[in-house]
Amino acid sequence: MKSEKVNKENRNIWDVNANDWDEAMGEAGNDWHKELIAPETERLLGLKEGDRLLDVGCGNGLFARRMAKKGIQVRAFDFSENNIRNAKKYDCDNISYEVLDATNDADLESLQDMTYDGIVSNMVFMDMPDIEKLFKQIHKLLTDEGSFVFSIQHPCFNSEFVEVQESNSLVIHDYMKESTSKGTAITTQKQEQFYFHRPISYYLNLGVQNALVIDGFFEPTFEQNNRDDVFSKFPPILIVRMRKA
Ligand SMILES: C[S@@+](CC[C@H](N)C(=O)[O-])C[C@H]1O[C@@H](n2cnc3c(N)ncnc32)[C@H](O)[C@@H]1O
Repeated sequence: MKSEKVNKENRNIWDVNANDWDEAMGEAGNDWHKELIAPETERLLGLKEGDRLLDVGCGNGLFARRMAKKGIQVRAFDFSENNIRNAKKYDCDNISYEVLDATNDADLESLQDMTYDGIVSNMVFMDMPDIEKLFKQIHKLLTDEGSFVFSIQHPCFNSEFVEVQESNSLVIHDYMKESTSKGTAITTQKQEQFYFHRPISYYLNLGVQNALVIDGFFEPTFEQNNRDDVFSKFPPILIVRMRKA
């Protein structure tokens, strides 16, 4: 299958870039993570001490650590061995790490030995050629009251189809077209990575098709007085919460 081949190449790229990613993110993440993604994701998850969280595509483990320090029991996985090796370098209780591929049925089934009060995936889905297998499993993996929270690059305002103008306005081309491209997330990465663009309706409909309801939708921007750039006017990130219907 085409997406399997792309996924394999994708994993190799993440293994090559893993140390660059770890250096850029460090223990607690860059300003995008700390200001835009982590606080609202944590609020939407609404977990309490002792709850179980599954972190899909955990990278160097920055969000897993944030939650584990609050007494959440975190199971975190990533398909890049090098990302997991880097995550394990940071000392932190309450986290178990695994190398698993979220596009692989057997790997996804191995997660079903328990249910989770929260499932999180920060900035991963636009990096995956296939998210349908994962969405099919969410209902089984979540507890009845559990929340599934994911963040992605905002498909309207932050994609290869968006051109930033000098006046900090945007020109958007071809938003509805699903497409694959390569680009960079951090300036220091050795290899360009894949991006898979999908319109917002694709994500929301996939939830609905898998018996999930959308009950949280957040479009964070940088504070105007901290950064006078385009992403204080347009949200570069979209954060969505889904629950069992
Ligand atoms: C942009 S990084 C985000 C990492 C982390 N969640 C964070 O917020 O820093 C995307 C992550 O998704 C992982 N990833 C991509 N495809 C994956 C897959 N099929 N299964 C598991 N992890 C995957 C990559 O290895 C990488 O760690």
